[in-house]
Amino acid sequence: MGLTEVRDFSLAGWAEPDRAEERARGYCECLEEGNILFFAQTPFSLPESDRSFLLNVRQTSSAVHKNISYKPDRDRVHGLTPGNADGEELLRIMRSYSQSVTNFVRQFLSPYRDRWHLDFASYRSIEEEDRDLPLQKRNDLLHVDSFPTRPSNGHRILRVFTNLNPTQPRVWLTSDPFDLLVRKYGNPARLNHLASESRSPWRHVNRRLIRLTRSLGIPLVDRPLYDQFMLGFHHELKGNRDFQENCPKSRWEFPPGSTWLVFTDTVPHAVLSGQFALEQTFIIQRDALLLPHKAPYRVLEELTGVSVVD
Ligand code: SIN
Ligand code: FE
Repeated sequence: MGLTEVRDFSLAGWAEPDRAEERARGYCECLEEGNILFFAQTPFSLPESDRSFLLNVRQTSSAVHKNISYKPDRDRVHGLTPGNADGEELLRIMRSYSQSVTNFVRQFLSPYRDRWHLDFASYRSIEEEDRDLPLQKRNDLLHVDSFPTRPSNGHRILRVFTNLNPTQPRVWLTSDPFDLLVRKYGNPARLNHLASESRSPWRHVNRRLIRLTRSLGIPLVDRPLYDQFMLGFHHELKGNRDFQENCPKSRWEFPPGSTWLVFTDTVPHAVLSGQFALEQTFIIQRDALLLPHKAPYRVLEELTGVSVVD
């Protein structure tokens, strides 16, 4: 399987009860193969009044917050200027968006239903074109996702985006999915390191020490081997000029009001332009996958011959 395809489900009657489970399995497989599923119109409820409120919200210019984020487990919003009078209404809208998109995914991707950890939602109110961000945080360079503060240990990063912009598309580039990408651009020294760390008898001792340190209130990140590799790969891809300039690319324009779903740990992506997007992340459990051999952790295990998840 080569370059990502965008499959349009807008008219496909995805919600018809007839053969619903079978169709939902097909959607999950299509995503796991490294495609993007696309709806020309938002397939869940997002009231017009909420959309227009969001278009007028301004986030803080602080470098700490790349976007406005909503944390469902704490029911809190971050990234608004302190004391901003919009805070309460924004919280209500982000909570309601997060619930609506989750209900939609429960139905659309029913094989994954509730076999996930509901991660953050975000509101991306800043124009992406010419955004001034440090290299590792740049969105306009192709990369696969790996979260520095929220390791996934091989569970998968599924993201649902909606373009709220009333007039402008959100423009993406994508490239070959992870299994091809890591074979071509994975750093052999780091793959060897992954294999030797996995075999090391000290590995569990080191992790236990980190956990102990954390329990004393020292905020060390307890990063499993899988995430050490994936975060390094994310940084390497962003810094690799040959890859950025010469890899095969597809360009997509997601129009106003559209929604798209993608495993961003498999599909390398970059956003070239666009302003005002909503996004919800689901961490899908490894054992819910229908094509587990396509999962990055399994591809890494095949390449190294060792187990890379705990
Ligand atoms: C990203 O996940 O790299 C950014 C995608 C977007 O905001 O469109
Ligand atoms: Fe990303």
